[in-house]
Amino acid sequence: MLASGRGSNFQAIIDAIHAGKLSAEVAVLITDNPGAFAIERARQHNIDCVVVNPSDFSSRDAFYASIAEELRKRNTGLVVLAGFMRIVGKVLIDAYPYKIMNIHPALLPSFPGLHGQKQALDHGVKISGCTVHFVDAGIDTGPIIIQAAVPVHHDDSERTLSDRILALEHRIYPEAVRLFAEGRLSVRGRVVHIAEDRHVEQAVINPLPRT
Ligand code: GRF
Repeated sequence: MLASGRGSNFQAIIDAIHAGKLSAEVAVLITDNPGAFAIERARQHNIDCVVVNPSDFSSRDAFYASIAEELRKRNTGLVVLAGFMRIVGKVLIDAYPYKIMNIHPALLPSFPGLHGQKQALDHGVKISGCTVHFVDAGIDTGPIIIQAAVPVHHDDSERTLSDRILALEHRIYPEAVRLFAEGRLSVRGRVVHIAEDRHVEQAVINPLPRT
């Protein structure tokens, strides 16, 4: 997982694993910010943590190559961006095609980039929400995996709307990772298809045990 700040989405994924709702292992937390609170969360859960400081690298490519190497060393299957405040470099995207997820606090393709919640308020939309998507070379443009919606109230501030959206982020992000971990996501064109849960399907089609 890659995070730059408080890491509440990082925490939501850790919690889902501990609750037995998600069968996955957080191999490492990588951060570009030595002051990120996410580091404290990693420490509390004995998760390996690496600080990769962009100013230690001669180029953006070298910075992302170093992150890719940290991930490769740990045999990482999925890269989860949780408030990672940088545009992901091509070097990393090419190393993990459709294996990098991001969460955005708006209903994409509306309001990409920074301050999605404020953009939604300023535009006057009546519904907003959050989006988990695969990362491509654009800013918040990759194939959409899951979205969830919340109402926007007439007296909302950026804070109240952000809090309402964040509560949903914490639900849909572990769910998206679970779908990936179960091998149920495939990308065709720019559309993400979600395969049925075979266990559920079998239970419905074949409710009685075979004799
Ligand atoms: C979230 O609002 C997320 O949608 C956006 O950055 C914020 C990260 O929050 N990409 P946290 O660090 O996970 O608490």
